[in-house]
Amino acid sequence: MSLRTTIAATRETETHEYFFAEDFAASVSMVGRSEAIKHTLKITKLVALSRCNPVLIVGETGTGKELAAEAIHFLRHPQERFVAVNCATLTANLLESELFGHVKGAFTGADREKTGLLELAGDGSLFLDEISEMPIDLQAKLLRILQERTFRKVGGIKNIKFNATIIASSNRNLRKETNANRFRADLYYRLNISPITIAPLRSPRRRQDIQLLAEYFLKTSTICPEKQNKITTLTKLATEALQKYDWPGNVRELRNVIERAILYETTDKIGLSNIVIDPDDLCDEPTTGNIRNYSLVKAERELISRALQETGWQKTHAAALLGITRATLYAKLKQYNIQKGSGIAKQSDPQASRAFAFEPVAAAQ
Ligand SMILES: Nc1ncnc2c1ncn2[C@@H]1O[C@H](COP(=O)(O)OP(=O)(O)OP(=O)(O)O)[C@@H](O)[C@H]1O
Ligand SMILES: [Mg+2]
Repeated sequence: MSLRTTIAATRETETHEYFFAEDFAASVSMVGRSEAIKHTLKITKLVALSRCNPVLIVGETGTGKELAAEAIHFLRHPQERFVAVNCATLTANLLESELFGHVKGAFTGADREKTGLLELAGDGSLFLDEISEMPIDLQAKLLRILQERTFRKVGGIKNIKFNATIIASSNRNLRKETNANRFRADLYYRLNISPITIAPLRSPRRRQDIQLLAEYFLKTSTICPEKQNKITTLTKLATEALQKYDWPGNVRELRNVIERAILYETTDKIGLSNIVIDPDDLCDEPTTGNIRNYSLVKAERELISRALQETGWQKTHAAALLGITRATLYAKLKQYNIQKGSGIAKQSDPQASRAFAFEPVAAAQ
């Protein structure tokens, strides 16, 4: 092995160790080294290597449920098919014939026999995404099928055996859905053998992954091929902003924010001004006086004065920290009447810190 190959291999290993808790996580690209993600990985492996079937994955939207489903599939039977269906997107009748197929003449328009996804999955996995949205009648059929390990095509009389691993996911709390009579309790208990739970990004047990994920998306995004490998880091303030936000859309939302920042960024570092959580905010008038805009202004003011304090009023350095040009910084100082010794930046206001993640690009350029 040449020296160059050895160095490249070492770098690769270092990168893996930085982004991933273990080799298995690296093999399925599941970034994270927090306690929460380590626990999820542990249960995922236990479940995948057992015969647990069905498998249930729960977590808020965008937390990585589909990724976990793929990880289970990858560990259990990588050579087989992974077939996914979103239970929220089809009517009861369509979903049933999609899942189990139908015989010729089963209903108007069924002019030929159709193989369902369960059969298509063969010895692989059938991923039932958003199972909480499955119509209640179909839930009863699914329960019977899970218990008997056989199914019938719509309109058919033959019982067909199946082998696939059924992986169901839900971003709703299924126990609550059951209490509200929207989800069948018997199906819930059938699914809930050893649920794989994925914590939201804002959970204190997962928050440390925010930075890792942001850096990972920065490194791997192909949204702007000409910028790939050119934007290499995020500024300290940009990272802080990401860490303070609550991420209701979890990893998916974070990835979008990073890709948006890559699009907007013109330097080699993602600065705070290009962290735009809600692109609609770009159209906001900063002076309309509503509470949200007020806090944006307040947050921007506070950040600028904090950056100045941190750098001992070295404006070039402060501007770099903020991810804005010196000229913009001067304009902001004038706009907010921030002067050395004016005592604007006192205690950091948690509300303001949170709001600065919403800072519109226009406000900082
Ligand atoms: N730990 C992670 N490391 C890297 N990428 C991740 C991680 N978790 C999620 N992602 C990415 O975030 C996006 C959303 O993940 P995924 O589709 O698995 O979420 P989900 O929980 O199924 O969301 P929903 O409930 O909305 O269907 C995907 O692009 C996925 O690859
Ligand atoms: Mg999903």
